[in-house]
Order: sequence, then C-alpha cells, then structure tokens
Amino acid sequence: MSDPNINPMVFLPARFFLPGLKSQYLHGPKPTNMSIHISAQPGEIAPVVLLPGDPLRAKYIADTLMSDVELVSNTRNILFFTGYYKNTRLSIGASGMGIPSMGIYSYELYTKYDVQCIIRIGTCGAYRTSIGLYDLINVETAYSESTYAQSAFSYQANNFSHQGLAYKAINDTAQRMNINLLNGAVHSGDAFYSSSGQLPTIALENNCLAAEMEAFALFANAKYCNKIAAALLTVSDIIPDRKMISPEERERSLDKMGKLALESAIQIGINS
Ligand code: HPA
Repeated sequence: MSDPNINPMVFLPARFFLPGLKSQYLHGPKPTNMSIHISAQPGEIAPVVLLPGDPLRAKYIADTLMSDVELVSNTRNILFFTGYYKNTRLSIGASGMGIPSMGIYSYELYTKYDVQCIIRIGTCGAYRTSIGLYDLINVETAYSESTYAQSAFSYQANNFSHQGLAYKAINDTAQRMNINLLNGAVHSGDAFYSSSGQLPTIALENNCLAAEMEAFALFANAKYCNKIAAALLTVSDIIPDRKMISPEERERSLDKMGKLALESAIQIGINS
C-alpha cells in the first residue's frame, strides 16, 4: 500500500490550478496529519466507529443507546460522538449520502484517526418483492458503476467485499439475538433518481438484493487501507412495488439495527 496519509489530489499546489495567483497565496495546503472534514482531536475517536448516513440518526443512537457520550466533531453539521456501550468505548458519526461523501469520511477516519473498524448502518431499497420492509441485510459485496475506486486507488474492479471480521461478528450476534438477517450483494448506485424505470444491469447481472449508495466506497477504502468494514442495512423501500416506510417509521426501525450494530461492535474486541 502506498502512503494513505497523502492524497495527491488534495495537495496539488494552488498555482497548479490558478496560474495568475499572487505569490502569498501560492503555497497550497501542505500535507498534515489533520483531518480536513472532521474536527475531533487525535484520540477523541474510538477505534470502532458506527457510521449511519444521517447526522441526526447518529445523535439519536448516541442519545438513546450509548452512555457518557461527547460530541467530538460538528464540522458541516456532520456530527461525531464518542461514548460507551456496555463498557466499550465506541464512536458514532455520519457518512453523509453517496459514494463521494462516504469516501471522504471513511478515508479520514481510517487514515487520520487510526480507526480500525467502520460499520455502516443505513437504509436500502429492495430490488425484489420477496424481501420485506424492515428486513435487515448484512452486505457481502457492493457492486457499482462508480469510478470512485478507479479515481482514488486505480482499482479496476466494479465490486468490493466487506473487509475483515465485522461481517461475521454481525452474523453471529444476530443469531445470538434471534434477529433474522439476509446476506448478499447490494448495488451502490450514484443516482437515487433515474429516468430509466428499469432495474440497473449491474444489479440484475450480479443478483443484488437492494440499492444503496455508500458501501462500495467504504469497502474500497477499507481494502486500500487494510482495515475492517461492514455494512448493515434496513430495507426502507421495495423498489418494484414502490412501497416505503415513512420518515418517522425509519427512525424507529433504527433501534433494532442500532442495537445489533452496537452489540456486534463490542464483539470485535478492539478497545481503547
Ligand atoms: N436507492 C438508493 N438508496 C436507497 C434507496 C434506494 O431506493 N432506499 C434507501 N436508500
């Protein structure tokens, strides 16, 4: 692996882009160990992080299921909290929506805060009517047409799998808690809205259970950084039926997924 702390896209000098700029502005951002999009101090983020898309979902889980919680970053209102679940120090924050946003936050967590494991918790739209609202999916592999992994790391693959032991910890924990889980592939799409009305070819060809928009970036980053990553999703809509749960119901559906993710996180055995 090359040095993940220096992203050449970020650290090109300003003069590269703006040839006419006055000399005092020509230095450009220097490589530092500071995170650009997360303002927590070193050590304020735990080695295992839960990552919903929505900052208010992160706050809801931190407030209702964790103890001794502190807000450690609020840059752009993308909230990160660190606290405890049953004596294990954990963090929870938001990835934002979509592959580029997940790409930024998970990369900074892995490379600037020495995070070892990220568990995405999110919603997805099922591609089949045999899957029900509120069903839970533990993602084996995320397929995408996105160029993210090619642009970031020159990876050519159109799919990345979960990385490390978190996936199995989620399966084992669900079994112990008597929670039914589906396992399989998902499609991490770039477009939530599309004009075609057809299921995407990549999803059909690869037997994808559902659509979501972030797991591909998380798994590609984890692979590049040699870290642990899993994605646990609640089915919030059934795409062929156009059925969906309301925003209020979405919040309540979080309780089961949040509890399963927290219980799994403490099984992973990484502490600080
Ligand atoms: N598409 C993409 N992401 C989603 C969906 C969807 O239908 N539902 C929830 N997240």
